[in-house]
Amino acid sequence: MRRVMVMDVFTHPIAQKYLNRSGVSHAISVAEYAVQLAIKHDVNPDLAAKAGLLHDIGHYEWYTNGKWDYEQYVKNDIHAIKGAERAHKLLIRLGEDRQYAKEIALAILLHTDSYLPENSIKKSSLQQIIRLADEMDEEPFGKHHYRKINREDAMKKIAKLDQEVERLIREYRKTV
Ligand SMILES: [Fe+2]
Repeated sequence: MRRVMVMDVFTHPIAQKYLNRSGVSHAISVAEYAVQLAIKHDVNPDLAAKAGLLHDIGHYEWYTNGKWDYEQYVKNDIHAIKGAERAHKLLIRLGEDRQYAKEIALAILLHTDSYLPENSIKKSSLQQIIRLADEMDEEPFGKHHYRKINREDAMKKIAKLDQEVERLIREYRKTV
């Protein structure tokens, strides 16, 4: 089966719509960190790249009188739940392996526990990696969501990620 490329995911109109909302630059950085962490922790880098890229696509904006309302956001946020569902739908549509799509969706669901009553879930390595990669790119007051990247640089970074994943996956396949 042909691997669904990170580029296929990135350029899909649904991904573009939501990534532009939550920050393309942040999404790409988290995907890059996730791949580096995947190497260290023996996790499938393809899943790490995709989960990293898509981890925030469930974000939506909370506005009060036309202004971004951080308090409302913190109180009512369920972006991990929405993101997991959106990512899963998109990946299945692109022909992703169903088990992979499930693992990616679960990593997105659990990349934050801000909406969970308590932090009591035992997480898989992939789930821990996405959470860690997200934290590595975080800036105070959610500034990482507003960092800009131009289209050309974004496409270059995504193509590089695919190359890296291709290379790593050959190594990874030897170990599992
Ligand atoms: Fe994030």
